[in-house]
Amino acid sequence: MSFTVEKPPLPAFYDDLDLTLDEILHRLRDGARNRHSAFHTPAVATVTPQGAPDVRTMVLRGVDNAPLRLRFHTDKRTGKAYQLSQNPLGFCEIYDSNCKIQLRLACDMTLLDDGETVERAWAQTRPMSRACYQTETAPGTEIPAPGAVVPDTARIDEGRSNFAVLMAEITTMEWLYLAARGHARARFERDGTHWTGCWLAP
Ligand SMILES: Cc1cc2nc3c(=O)[nH]c(=O)nc-3n(C[C@H](O)[C@H](O)[C@H](O)COP(=O)(O)O)c2cc1C
Repeated sequence: MSFTVEKPPLPAFYDDLDLTLDEILHRLRDGARNRHSAFHTPAVATVTPQGAPDVRTMVLRGVDNAPLRLRFHTDKRTGKAYQLSQNPLGFCEIYDSNCKIQLRLACDMTLLDDGETVERAWAQTRPMSRACYQTETAPGTEIPAPGAVVPDTARIDEGRSNFAVLMAEITTMEWLYLAARGHARARFERDGTHWTGCWLAP
């Protein structure tokens, strides 16, 4: 007696570079809006002045086209802000176990603390998020115990001077889709405002 094991159907993007690129852009844009998506909270890596890697989770706030840029919000007193002032090279990584997609994004990063983009971003922040930027004690400062730094909710608008937008302009994208029939791995290089893709051995 022999059994045939039904394999799940492969998505149309599996062996199509154009559809893979569409899927990347769709997942990133959805991630900026959908807090239930793994694409909402990428791991964002920077390089310390000593040349060591440093990585942390950040909330993806927006995606710009041409050039393709990811927008994050942060406090300009953080370690990552200082690191980027010394070295703009960064990296973002996302793995969504629901759709079995990993995305690795090499980026040039810029920290903005004034201008239209920053004002618009600040105007969109919720009062609770604004409060985080209002603390007099800078993030990363040693304190006696958790809870020792509490924002004064009556002064939340004062946080604006510590607020910054981190723009991550993507230069190379690497895609990995896990599939029983063979993982699909692709690299996309920026070519002006277009992307040129190729398949890689997984
Ligand atoms: C789910 C989650 C979301 C986070 N989102 C942000 C964010 O959007 N911006 C940010 O600066 N830090 C965010 N953090 C905190 C950072 O991961 C990090 O701890 C903090 O920014 C200090 O990082 P740094 O010292 O490397 O700059 C988040 C942490 C978690 C767990």
